Amino acid sequence: MIDLKDNVTLITGGGSGIGRETCLAFTKAGAIVVVVDIDVEGGEKTVSLIEKLGGESIFIEADVSKSSDVENYVNKTMEKYGRIDTFFNNAGITGPSCPIHEYPEDMFDKVVAINMKGVFLGLKYVLAVMIKQGSGSIINTSSTSGMKGYVNLCAYSSTKHAVVGLTRISAGEVAQTGVRVNAICPGPVDTGLIERLASGTGRTAEEQAEIKKRISLVSTPRGRFADVNEVARVVIFLASNYSEFINGAVLPIDAGITAI
Ligand SMILES: NC(=O)c1ccc[n+]([C@@H]2O[C@H](COP(=O)([O-])OP(=O)(O)OC[C@H]3O[C@@H](n4cnc5c(N)ncnc54)[C@H](O)[C@@H]3O)[C@@H](O)[C@H]2O)c1
Repeated sequence: MIDLKDNVTLITGGGSGIGRETCLAFTKAGAIVVVVDIDVEGGEKTVSLIEKLGGESIFIEADVSKSSDVENYVNKTMEKYGRIDTFFNNAGITGPSCPIHEYPEDMFDKVVAINMKGVFLGLKYVLAVMIKQGSGSIINTSSTSGMKGYVNLCAYSSTKHAVVGLTRISAGEVAQTGVRVNAICPGPVDTGLIERLASGTGRTAEEQAEIKKRISLVSTPRGRFADVNEVARVVIFLASNYSEFINGAVLPIDAGITAI
């Protein structure tokens, strides 16, 4: 098992799904985990789960699309722990599923604000700290939809492409500083995000179950969703010294979706 004892790890979207599972996996690896989320209840629940495991954690409420909130979660982490070793820049939303000519402009703006600007702001404020430290690993959450176009998800898929761009650009900018920036591209993982995508508006329980089944069977060659842990383990690897020479990588976690 990878040892991340006392690694100060900041995780956005830590209040549920992939973010929460990654918080717990880092705790088990010995890290101190700062949980960031817009959802106070979810974030505090994650902290209580971490404490049950005997780990150390604090929760900081933030909307990742707001500059002042991002500056605040970075400042508070620095005040409390004095450094940031790992940053999992992970919070995101899907937005609605419909073709571009029907896509609501306000929802497009919202998805861009959270998925693209939120990742940019996280990089902006955390990189300033890590460059000064001369060390640190950042993992941005893109998606398989950041590697190929997903129809009916124009805002989601294009913002996840933007996360790939931001990863490559920042990795180049910090290549000689001791800091690394990589992106993960999970295929479908059975979290609240998929649940909300399947529920849409006015669908029956049977229709929702059918959509989930279709997503899992059609979109992964293994015929199943990824487990949240299968994602968390890759994040741990990218945070650790085992990935020391990996910078600017865009890593699918998708059982081969993007390869074939
Ligand atoms: N579930 C999947 O199939 C899948 C696949 C590929 C990529 N992803 C990506 O993984 C990341 C995590 O998704 P998940 O599946 O765990 O979904 P999730 O909905 O369970 O978790 C997302 C978390 O982000 C938080 N969040 C949303 N908007 C926020 C904001 N403005 N500020 C701060 N926090 C905010 C939510 O409260 C929630 O806790 C997202 O970036 C998503 O796009 C998910």
